[in-house]
Amino acid sequence: MKLIITKKDLGQWAASYIARAKKQAQKPHFVLGLPTGGTVEGMYAQLAKLTQAGEMTFQDAVTFNMDEYVGLPPEHDQSYHYYMKHHLFDHVDAKPENVHILNGQAQDLDAECRAYENAIAQAGGIDLFLGGVGRNGHLAFNEPGSAFDSRTRVMHLTPSTIEANARFFGNDPAKVPTRALTVGIGTVLGAKELLFLASGKAKAQAVARLSQGEITPQWPITALKTHPNATLLVDEEAASLLTGEAQARLEEAKRTNPDGDWVIEL
Ligand code: GLP
Repeated sequence: MKLIITKKDLGQWAASYIARAKKQAQKPHFVLGLPTGGTVEGMYAQLAKLTQAGEMTFQDAVTFNMDEYVGLPPEHDQSYHYYMKHHLFDHVDAKPENVHILNGQAQDLDAECRAYENAIAQAGGIDLFLGGVGRNGHLAFNEPGSAFDSRTRVMHLTPSTIEANARFFGNDPAKVPTRALTVGIGTVLGAKELLFLASGKAKAQAVARLSQGEITPQWPITALKTHPNATLLVDEEAASLLTGEAQARLEEAKRTNPDGDWVIEL
């Protein structure tokens, strides 16, 4: 995998990358995996801007969101349905029938997850899966211990994730749903390409795990290392705890190219 450390705005970087990847693919339908979270808000703002400027279109895009809380109605302002509408779909030209978000209110949650996997397969798989990273290294809502071949399913959230997400629920952990539907790590790894983003000190420990060699379900982020075409884009703070050779390579890259971006193969 590639770790890219940039001084540039992560959202802008990612949005131009996505627009370019979509153009280059020249497919009748480009299939995107989409995340939520604070880290990717800027990316969505930039994608909306590019779309309004005519440099990007969602008309021929098919999208699959990563996850959704169990029990929140779509109009709840912390549901991921609401997040996506507010941050992206209200501002771009996506066709509603091509937008997929897990239904956390489904009567039969397991059937909902199975149908989601089928829909991804029917769309021909995901071309580019975008994502963020949890403080504990989770991907989507795949908490530590999730198998690398896991598929879409119900997940019980860890205290660490509930604590981290409480800021969106009036700082009250008791208001955070305890379960979510999430694509599996296997679902993510099935995509042709991955672009994940992490920013700030809170993610530095998870990012540092990538420099420590071990690939383990205890740190879901390390699954990125098993994918043939994965990139993690981070800011300097998120890269501040790298160790060993990765850290040495970053120092060297900074010396030879002070303005960045700095690319490290892991
Ligand atoms: C949630 C989402 C993840 C996201 C994570 C980090 O737990 N399910 O997909 O990566 O939050 O969010 P933030 O970017 O706000 O730190």
